Amino acid sequence: MEQRALGADVRVGAVGLGCAGMSGAYGSSADEEGGIATLRSALDAGITFIDTADHYGMGHNETLIGRALRPALRERAVVSVKFGALFGVDGRVHGVNARPDAVANFLGYSLQRLGTDYVDIYRPARLDPAVPIEDTVGAIAEMVRKGYVRGIGLSEVGAETIRRAHAVHPITDVQIEYSLFSRGVEDEILPTCRELGIGVTAYGVLAQGMLTGTWRPSADAARHRGHLPRFAAGNVETNLALVERLRRIATARGVTVAQLAIAWVLAQGRAHRDVVALAGVSRPGRIAETARAAELALSEDDLDAIEQAVPRGAVAGERYAPALLALLDSERTEGAR
Ligand SMILES: NC(=O)c1ccc[n+]([C@@H]2O[C@H](COP(=O)([O-])OP(=O)(O)OC[C@H]3O[C@@H](n4cnc5c(N)ncnc54)[C@H](OP(=O)(O)O)[C@@H]3O)[C@@H](O)[C@H]2O)c1
Repeated sequence: MEQRALGADVRVGAVGLGCAGMSGAYGSSADEEGGIATLRSALDAGITFIDTADHYGMGHNETLIGRALRPALRERAVVSVKFGALFGVDGRVHGVNARPDAVANFLGYSLQRLGTDYVDIYRPARLDPAVPIEDTVGAIAEMVRKGYVRGIGLSEVGAETIRRAHAVHPITDVQIEYSLFSRGVEDEILPTCRELGIGVTAYGVLAQGMLTGTWRPSADAARHRGHLPRFAAGNVETNLALVERLRRIATARGVTVAQLAIAWVLAQGRAHRDVVALAGVSRPGRIAETARAAELALSEDDLDAIEQAVPRGAVAGERYAPALLALLDSERTEGAR
C-alpha cells in the first residue's frame, strides 16, 4: 500500500484502521474473534496505523488489540492511543483529564491492556481546557524520554493549540474528522499541519457509516446513531440524497461509495503524502474493499464531479451534538463543516 508520512519519523499505509466499532461503537455487533481477524487482515493488507482509545469499550478495545498483535505482529503495527476522556457510570462523557500527573497513570493502564511496553503515538483525546497544552505535551514527552511512547499526537485541536504543542515537542499527527461531509479542517488546521510537517489522521471518513451507501434508517439504526445530528430526522434525508449522487459517480468508476469516500480524503493529501484516512471497520470481510480504496486514483475530473455532487457545506447537521461539540478546541477556530 502507498505509504504516508506522519511527522518526521513515522511511515504508515495510506489507509488506517479505526477500532472503536470492535468494542460496540454504533451498536456494532461484531464479535471479538471478528475484531481480531479484522486487525490481522488489515496488517496483511498493508493497513498499519491502528487507532484506539483507552475509553473504547472502557478498556476492551485495547485488550482486544493486545490479543490480536501479541506477540509476533506488534512491530508491524503503529498503535495510536487516545487518553483522558472521562465517563460517568452512566456511560456519558463528563469531560477530560489531561493533567500531567494523569498521563503516566492512563499510560500505565493502556500498556498493561495492550500487553506491550510502548505506544507508538499517544494523544489526549481532547484538549483539557483546565490544562495548558504545553503541560500535557511536556508530560507525554517525559514518557517519550523514558521509552514508553514513541510519538506524540493531538486530537480535535485548533491551529493555535497545534503550534503551542509543537513548540514543546515535535507532534507526529493531528487526528481530526475530515470527510466529504466535514471539511472545516481545510481552512486552517490542515495548512498549519502542513507548514509544521505534522501528519493528519482523518477519522469519520465514512461519516460514521453514512458515506458507504449501505446505511439505511431503521429503529435499530436510530438507537445507535440518533445522537448524531446528521442521522437525525430532518437532516438524514438531505444527507442520504447526497450519498445517492456519489453512488452514481462510484458506479461509473466501478467502485463502492465507501471506496470513493476514502479515496477522496486520500486525494487531499496526495501531493504531500501527509493525510491518512482512518476507516472504522470491525468485520474482516470489509478489509479488502477498504484497502483497495488506497489504489483508487481520482482524476481532476473525478474530483470536480465529486465536488459538484457534494459541495462543501451541503451536509445537513453538525458533526456532533452541542454538548460534545463544545469539547472541541478545533471548532473554536474552524468552521463547523
Ligand atoms: N479522535 C477522535 O476524536 C475520534 C472520534 C471518533 C472516531 N475516531 C476514530 O476513527 C475511527 C472511525 O471513525 P468513525 O467511528 O467516525 O466511523 P467511520 O469510519 O466514518 O464509519 C464507521 C462505520 O462505517 C461502517 N463501514 C465501514 N466500512 C464499510 C463498508 N465498506 N461498507 C459498509 N459499512 C462500512 C462500519 O461498520 P462496521 O463497524 O460494522 O464494520 C461503521 O459502522 C474510530 O474507530 C476511531 O478509531 C476518532
